[in-house]
Amino acid sequence: MTAPPRIVVTRALPAKTLEPLRAAGSVWVSPHDRPLAPGELRDAVRGADAVISMLSDRIDDSVLDAAGSGLRIVANTAVGYDNVDVPALARRGVVATNTPGVLVDATADLTMALLLAVTRRVAEGDRLIRSGAAWSWDISFMLGTGLQGKQLGIIGYGHIGKAVATRAAAFGMRVVHHSRRPTPGTDAVPLDELLATSDVVSLHCPLTTETRHLIDAGALRAMKREAFLINTARGPIVDEAALAEALSEGRIAGAGLDVYEHEPEVHERLRTLGNVVLAPHLGSATVETRTRMAELAVENVVAVLSGRPAPTPVSV
Ligand code: DGY
Repeated sequence: MTAPPRIVVTRALPAKTLEPLRAAGSVWVSPHDRPLAPGELRDAVRGADAVISMLSDRIDDSVLDAAGSGLRIVANTAVGYDNVDVPALARRGVVATNTPGVLVDATADLTMALLLAVTRRVAEGDRLIRSGAAWSWDISFMLGTGLQGKQLGIIGYGHIGKAVATRAAAFGMRVVHHSRRPTPGTDAVPLDELLATSDVVSLHCPLTTETRHLIDAGALRAMKREAFLINTARGPIVDEAALAEALSEGRIAGAGLDVYEHEPEVHERLRTLGNVVLAPHLGSATVETRTRMAELAVENVVAVLSGRPAPTPVSV
């Protein structure tokens, strides 16, 4: 009798979403309430037929070597897959999958939440009240920036970028965008024009070698002094030290960040600045969305283990 496929899940998923996996093989779920350390990850995947990974797991050659030749799929529970060495999987004939589509609205909503929180100083006001400091309504007290008639520049005009554009339009914003593959006949503009003319710049591109530090000191200098930067994509797209400097010198007005260059560490200077709103990678963090992400990762594993094509494969 052949042994059931060994399925490794690197971080607990909602219990119900694991049921189809339990029917498909023998499932090991990490017992830790934290990401596995690299050595733990290598130990965990030994002899695995399938791995469900999180964006905090680095899936590289060392992990694939540890898993061995029986590995058939790595299902990343995220739309971004910069943590997975997809060419290394492809060389070994291992399928890589992600969870596109299901987190578009949640991430677009969180983008708007950060945009509003930083432009209308919501987090700053919350800190003020909690500090116990005296305050009173005054005609010029804690004034923020209105969005109506302002320009939002979206970098990366995929599903999430477009969902943000729809929401921003409902707030009366004018939207321009810039992508690697510009959409013809729309409001696509060159990157330098987007940076120089936008009141809010919001990042929605994937992290690749081309987009790493796309927002560096030069890009920040190109932005207007009154402009805000929002990042719900991936931390390393922004040079965090350069951003901290630009914010403390008032070279841009503020930032709303959900992701960090060395996540989960956050640049110390950013943590001390009042004009930054910091969220702990909450883009997809709704019950509905995270459940759907887990279900989709599971669907990918079950399909591949039963010899069917993965519903959402990623290619090199
Ligand atoms: C993703 O899916 O890439 C998101 O960052 C998860 O929140």
